Amino acid sequence: MNENVPNHVAIIMDGNGRWAQNRGLKRTKGHQKGAEVLKKISEYVYDKKIKVLSVFAFSTENWKRDKEEIDYLMKLFIKAFKGNFNVIKEKGVKVVFSGLKNKLSKKVIDTMDKMQEETKNNKNGIFNICLNYGGQDEIIEATKKISALVKDNKIDVKDIDKELFSKNLFNDLPPIDLLIRTSGEYRISNFMLWQMAYAELYFTDTLWPDFNEEEFDKALDAFNKRERRFGGVKK
Ligand code: IPE
Ligand code: IPE
Ligand code: MG
Repeated sequence: MNENVPNHVAIIMDGNGRWAQNRGLKRTKGHQKGAEVLKKISEYVYDKKIKVLSVFAFSTENWKRDKEEIDYLMKLFIKAFKGNFNVIKEKGVKVVFSGLKNKLSKKVIDTMDKMQEETKNNKNGIFNICLNYGGQDEIIEATKKISALVKDNKIDVKDIDKELFSKNLFNDLPPIDLLIRTSGEYRISNFMLWQMAYAELYFTDTLWPDFNEEEFDKALDAFNKRERRFGGVKK
């Protein structure tokens, strides 16, 4: 079979809380297990010739949760950014973050900056971590930047096209080819709206802490069977 590998895979890692609750554990235990799964998956994808992996770590809507859960997640991010991704750094993958810096503590921002700085010249792939991220915010922020360019006469209104718009997003990433969402929820939850325009969507009932390499391969197999037409007609 002709192996059609997606260039950019995005994952909405959902179901940590339910995984823990099903076991009579605190929701935070689900996040802990979820972080281990992310480590494994991030080490796996780049060997599959996938170039870009985007993951949804924390949404702008997630601030609605209890303080205890949010505090736990922030500590988990710091810990993970300090150690969990050494293998992908060694593989030459560049780490970038998407999201707003507001509301994040200095400690979280410092570990994010350090990771970006250490990997900025890496060329073998991109790992895009969406943290305090909302797709609509990303589009609004880009619009503000572009408006300022027009106002300062740096560009003309007629220069605004998809390419320029993409360059003004949090990161200039290629379009998403395959979106995976775990935990049986069939929605996008404000994730990467611009980049998602022609993504193939794959939903699985598996909760994120139970996700693994085999589950990832199932998503790739499903992607392989899709016929992408981009508005054209089957040949
Ligand atoms: C996803 O799992 C992780 C984050 C949103 C940080 P959830 O915490 O949303 O788990 P469920 O959906 O409540 O099971
Ligand atoms: C989306 O999951 C955000 C992350 C995975 C970080 P949520 O669990 O927050 O989304 P909803 O509330 O089900 O839409
Ligand atoms: Mg959820």
